[in-house]
Amino acid sequence: MGAIGKPVARVDGPAKVTGTATYAAEFHPENMAYAALVHGTIPRGWIKSIATDAAESVPGVIAVVTHLNAPRLPWKPVDAAPVDPGEGEQLRPFHSDEILFAGQPIALVIAESQETARAAAALVSFTCVPSDGAGLVFDRARARPPSEATRESYPAEWERGNAEGAFASAPRRIEGSYLQPRLFHNAMEPHATIAAWDDEGKLTLWDKSQWVDNVRDQITRNFGLAEDEVRVISPFVGGAFGSALRCWPHVTMAAMAARIARRPVRLELTRRELYTAVGYRPYTLQDVKLAADEDGRLRSVIQTAYGLTSAYEDYGEEVLDPVGMLYDTMSARTVYRLVELDTNTPTPMRGPGAVTGVFALEMAIDEMADAMDMDPLEFRLKNYAERDLKKDLPFSSKALRSCYETAALRFGWEKRDPRRRAMHDGNMLVGYGMATAVWPAMRAPASVRIRLFANGTAVVRTAASDMGPGTYTSMTQVAADRLDLPVERVTFELGDSSLPMAPVHGGSMTMASVGNAVAAGCKKLRDDIARLDGAEDGEHPVETLMRLRRDSFEVDGAAEPGAEAGTHSSYAFGAVFAEVRVDPDFGTVRVPRLVGAYDGGVIVNPRTARSQAIGGMVQGIGMALMEAGEWDDRLGRVMNANLAEYLVPVHADVEELEAVFVESEDRIFNPLGVKGIAEIALCGVAPAIANAVWHATGLRIRELPLTPDRLLMAEQAARTS
Ligand code: MOS
Repeated sequence: MGAIGKPVARVDGPAKVTGTATYAAEFHPENMAYAALVHGTIPRGWIKSIATDAAESVPGVIAVVTHLNAPRLPWKPVDAAPVDPGEGEQLRPFHSDEILFAGQPIALVIAESQETARAAAALVSFTCVPSDGAGLVFDRARARPPSEATRESYPAEWERGNAEGAFASAPRRIEGSYLQPRLFHNAMEPHATIAAWDDEGKLTLWDKSQWVDNVRDQITRNFGLAEDEVRVISPFVGGAFGSALRCWPHVTMAAMAARIARRPVRLELTRRELYTAVGYRPYTLQDVKLAADEDGRLRSVIQTAYGLTSAYEDYGEEVLDPVGMLYDTMSARTVYRLVELDTNTPTPMRGPGAVTGVFALEMAIDEMADAMDMDPLEFRLKNYAERDLKKDLPFSSKALRSCYETAALRFGWEKRDPRRRAMHDGNMLVGYGMATAVWPAMRAPASVRIRLFANGTAVVRTAASDMGPGTYTSMTQVAADRLDLPVERVTFELGDSSLPMAPVHGGSMTMASVGNAVAAGCKKLRDDIARLDGAEDGEHPVETLMRLRRDSFEVDGAAEPGAEAGTHSSYAFGAVFAEVRVDPDFGTVRVPRLVGAYDGGVIVNPRTARSQAIGGMVQGIGMALMEAGEWDDRLGRVMNANLAEYLVPVHADVEELEAVFVESEDRIFNPLGVKGIAEIALCGVAPAIANAVWHATGLRIRELPLTPDRLLMAEQAARTS
């Protein structure tokens, strides 16, 4: 049937638009109670007293949980999941009187209704004693190398050649500092957990999760349970972008509350709580130094990143991974430092690290091209890397050149006047800018169970997740393709830890991991059926089952990475082109057009893939122009912890978006030839827009977001200098 590559409409679309798809907070186990949280207000210190009697006396309140009466949990050590920081310990809710950050939950009210729980929570009174901690001011003077465990993944220093020497002796040099603020996932669906214990002490959790197996493993250890005593169910996730990778403290709190209330309890976080209960993309300051020859050959790239982490966990990310591999440069050097604050721990957010590092690097590359009087695209092509010089390995595939060419053509890059502030539309300044995008292609072991029925239908099951990209749909296509069945005859079930093991639904690796397990399982199913006594050569497995009067046939399938990671370097690539209109009087920026071309390997579903890509572009417009968690470094709080003041693009901010997937397949990386298309879609958008703003205005603003006040101040500074 050839279902791979077809623009199949989402198989779960009708359930989503009719409201029958059940998200974590929408399950209704019998006799469910509701929880609400009370938060500490100081960034660091101790709870001195806490009074719960007023809350307890509210009609409908079942219990109030604090560190004074919370059950002492075993907190068995957790083998660090790859989504957890390598060092430190996650907040243990109600474990002690210690306060680690402002907004930390210090009490939980369980009541008959959500309204009662929230109202009673407001009646809990407490006093706190502040103490010294890591501090609240992001000061690079306090930066330190990542801890030993963190350094294993994110080296403190890395160098090829003699980068400083090459920089010092090169004829052309630029350097600059770039700032990316704290950014929040702000998925539509708030995090929520419903916890229910049964009479035998088994726990069921309905949770918003990108990795049900991880939630099961962590909760199992926190409560000292056996693996088969915890089941995590998460069939639909309303966006996550990384916020649902870890098993956050609220999951433990929900399970604690349900144990105390002796009935199911729902804990749904408020929008404001989402700014402290889960992580965020860390505030990151970067210095970039580039040097080139007179003919435009890059000689040295030196990038230093200072990332924020909490005082209780050591969060690192791949900010600097692209530095040594994106361009063909003899020498390169990276330095990674962390700055601790008394705040909650950051966490991966769409394209974690790479999006941040590429923002600085791709703005710097643009500045270097300008300093060379070269076209920014020509400059990048001149320094095109045919091989991964960082890993010293060939790429398993790389179609970046074709991304550049395709996107440039669709965008009309040749119409760009190379001079800054030279293109106009009426009073508006017009700018064209571009940037490169890159994201590592990753793959992990995954497994599936497939049952084929004699009536010509099939059911495929795995513990994988679908946070919105269309896992249900694309996996159904892979199975339909490999079983030679129409898509409508295949059902895909996921989001349940009782199903066969699947890796984290993150890092853009679900198709390369689970997709290949589905394909392998289908092959095994067909092979096994063909070997049945009485099976005939060349017949469809459904025909065999019918003829042999077998109702159905089931197999377990699995796939895992091979030796390719040691022999090849695998990345998804992209090129993003942006047009901006800047109002010179008001400093407002609009983005009438974005064109992106991506090398994501084989595209299983061009329709959901396009949806991924334009979604990333919209998020990129937000990152470039609007988004910032405004940190108050006296109070230790994000001041705009709500969707009224944390600005994200709305429909009126988004105009023409075009996403193209170039011809590409990567059969070295994995049998399906896919590379992953989620994170790559956000990468490169913000620098492309910032570079376009520079082209329009002649202002090089190196701090995100490019808000009107920053543009007007830069304009004023340029006029007076
Ligand atoms: Mo993505 S940050 O791995 O959800």
